[in-house]
Amino acid sequence: MSNEAPSGVGRSAQSAIFRAGIGGTAPQVPVDPSVLFDAARRALSKEAAAYIFGGAGVERTMAANRAAFDDWQVWPRPLTDVSMRNLETTAFGVTRPTPFILAPLGVMEMVHPEADLAVARAAVTAQMPYVLSNQASFPMEDVAAEAPAGERWFQLYWSASDELNESLVTRAEGSGCTAIVITVDTHLLGWRTRDLDLGYLPFTRAMGIAQYLTDPVFKRLVAARVAEPQGQRAAVKITPKAVLAGISIARKGESLTGAGLRDSLKSPLPRAAVETFLDVFSTPALTWGDIVRVREWTSLPIIIKGIVHPDDAVRARDVGVNGVWISNHGGRQIDASVPTLYVLPEIVARVGGDVEVIFDSGVRGGADALIALALGASLVAIGRPYAAGLALAGEDGVREVLRNHLAELDITMGLAGRTRISDLDPTVLRHRGRAD
Ligand SMILES: Cc1cc2nc3c(=O)[nH]c(=O)nc-3n(C[C@H](O)[C@H](O)[C@H](O)COP(=O)(O)O)c2cc1C
Repeated sequence: MSNEAPSGVGRSAQSAIFRAGIGGTAPQVPVDPSVLFDAARRALSKEAAAYIFGGAGVERTMAANRAAFDDWQVWPRPLTDVSMRNLETTAFGVTRPTPFILAPLGVMEMVHPEADLAVARAAVTAQMPYVLSNQASFPMEDVAAEAPAGERWFQLYWSASDELNESLVTRAEGSGCTAIVITVDTHLLGWRTRDLDLGYLPFTRAMGIAQYLTDPVFKRLVAARVAEPQGQRAAVKITPKAVLAGISIARKGESLTGAGLRDSLKSPLPRAAVETFLDVFSTPALTWGDIVRVREWTSLPIIIKGIVHPDDAVRARDVGVNGVWISNHGGRQIDASVPTLYVLPEIVARVGGDVEVIFDSGVRGGADALIALALGASLVAIGRPYAAGLALAGEDGVREVLRNHLAELDITMGLAGRTRISDLDPTVLRHRGRAD
């Protein structure tokens, strides 16, 4: 796969797949999303499969996110010349080759050792912005160095320490991120049944906390905790190296036995870092008044992720952010949440002229993306599907998943008789309940 121009990507993807098929080679990453997810589940440990594919409660939100797409149908419109199609779109004042972005997914080291580094490289080839998670497995500076040509945004989880929040935002801007996404739907961790049944939360195993371990403010917080007058703790000298070494001991312990892990986490440094993380990770006291402070820390565009209620979209617009990201976190936070596609038209109607509207939760291919774009989304975020690609074939797997989304969008748009993303509007769609 080369750095091909997105136009015509549909046919070139089909042709590459069918040509390889003549030689007896099937795609290494299944194209059908349910086959893709099944294959990834089989390839992963039970803990990773639960973490990636699980949701809150009995997972009604995950089902509702998908079911909401069934309410919309695409009108086929043949006999229009669609030979020249263009997937470019303009958002946040920048014209981009595609309307897709990569949603922030934390703890990708559970899926593949190269985690965010592999994802960042794949995103460059796909020409899609990569939203790097606050819970990524590699520090943002390393991801920047790995894929300097790519557009990266940074996703912040608002921690209990404002000094830490400011430090993370400043580092993001310094390492070349071009937008700050604040995820506001995780002020409490959702009731994730599959993880609970395994008693497994990756952060407690020191995974997904790379941004913190490399942060000067966080390191000070760990040092302060270790310096608390508790026996020999005060004698431990905290340096970045020492913290990282301690963490890697903890990880090695994990791959040995449960007892090994428990022992290694008993040593002061890893335990102090994990405990400090668990203390500061999020704050249930977060309110709109806090959000506005980010403006003092950065001049980058600010996007609020985790908006589902139209009144909150209006509020976000009114506090001066540049984008709202409609998301229910892929059903990982509330069981039986309102599905995101259901609220997209109203949110677009109320704030779409003023701020960019990003959409996610349940997107499984290009036809889904077309529906969201036709309903007014500025950009569509891909989440779990790229994690599945990463599980099956690392960087190449992510690239194939992204390419397949783009290819299906290109083909579906052409079959609907449209040639440009800006031509997509609700007239491309029919609502299932509509009386014709
Ligand atoms: C394994 C996993 C990890 C995630 N980590 C984060 C994260 O660190 N920050 C964040 O804002 N959202 C996170 N999300 C939510 C995604 O950004 C996105 O909203 C969600 O995956 C969309 O649902 P879908 O993948 O089912 O389409 C995560 C989702 C998954 C599945």
